[in-house]
Amino acid sequence: MEVRIEAVAKDFDRHPALHEIDLAIASGELAALVGPSGSGKTTLLRLIAGLETPGRGRILFGEEDASRLSVQARRVGFVFQHYALFRHMTVLENVGFGLSARPRALRPARAEIDRRARELLELVQLGGLEKRYPPQLSGGQRQRVALARALAIEPRVLLLDEPFGALDAQVRRDLRRWLRELHDRTGHTTVFVTHDQEEALELADRVVVMSQGRIEQAATPDEVYDRPATAFVHGFIGESSRLPVRVEGGEVFLDDRPTGLRADWEGPAELFFRPHQALVGDGAGGLAGMVTGGRRIAGVRRVELELGAAHRRVEVDLPLAQSCAPGTLLAFRPTAFRLYPLAGEGRPADRAPARQLAHG
Ligand SMILES: Nc1ncnc2c1ncn2[C@@H]1O[C@H](COP(=O)(O)OP(=O)(O)OP(=O)(O)O)[C@@H](O)[C@H]1O
Ligand SMILES: [Mg+2]
Repeated sequence: MEVRIEAVAKDFDRHPALHEIDLAIASGELAALVGPSGSGKTTLLRLIAGLETPGRGRILFGEEDASRLSVQARRVGFVFQHYALFRHMTVLENVGFGLSARPRALRPARAEIDRRARELLELVQLGGLEKRYPPQLSGGQRQRVALARALAIEPRVLLLDEPFGALDAQVRRDLRRWLRELHDRTGHTTVFVTHDQEEALELADRVVVMSQGRIEQAATPDEVYDRPATAFVHGFIGESSRLPVRVEGGEVFLDDRPTGLRADWEGPAELFFRPHQALVGDGAGGLAGMVTGGRRIAGVRRVELELGAAHRRVEVDLPLAQSCAPGTLLAFRPTAFRLYPLAGEGRPADRAPARQLAHG
């Protein structure tokens, strides 16, 4: 089922939680909503579910205006971060709950509800645990029961709000791989919220980056990582360093000194690069910074450098074998970078229009 959000806005007590948002989620797509706390992710999910009504705009399920539909009629499945299962119901009863609670005319027979619930428990790989009670399950198993329960009503759209938020890293990794496989098999249109950008990049067909009630970018994981639409997205997705620079005559200056980088732009800008996008060492040229610290991150050594009188901090990756004592002066040059025009017309840099000024 395709979900289209058209110019939807939502205020709470006259404070905008969402400014006019447009977003189309294709049928069968797995979309991830990411963004800082308070950026409007849950609000957007609740609007799709029908748990909130939009102040303006409309939400379409296929060609149908969903605002005319009740929560039940939308046939949306939910899983929230702390989605309480019913403690005094067995796993099987929990999964069948949505069907048992239907009005009599629409309710399948008991045996049919149990059959479907068993089928779903197989699907979420919990076959054999039907008779257990929620307190007798691990956190990951409970989340899978919650997912089976959401799937039981045969939802047209599946909405997950930080479904794996409370679980440890290894269980999260297992569950997200499993969720991706499940999604590929069942083909539900799925929107999930996560705080974990690695999860979003690994799992989603499309990543929707939100900030302050707006969508900054909605694009494939590769695109949001490699071609962030705004400075905000660049800073939010993945690791990056930022430096305030000025471009004059096609040359990039930091603190009035040439960096050796060139750009097709004039005026003040913010330069972004990622730690692995830097050539480091003698002759790298352009920029130099004092080593202030470093740490091992998996297969590389990430070194912190301080630049110039303003003590601006950047991070670059070195091979593990290369040690680098604090106090050493290290030359480096970003091998790929992006510039975002700074501030004009009273706009903060993070709200700078999406434009690519340079991509080395
Ligand atoms: N029921 C409500 N009443 C008043 N304000 C609300 C309500 N729900 C959300 N808000 C406000 O709307 C904004 C967006 O909240 P929302 O819960 O959508 O953020 P979020 O992106 O899900 O954040 P988090 O990552 O912390 O879950 C916040 O400023 C929040 O305080
Ligand atoms: Mg939330």
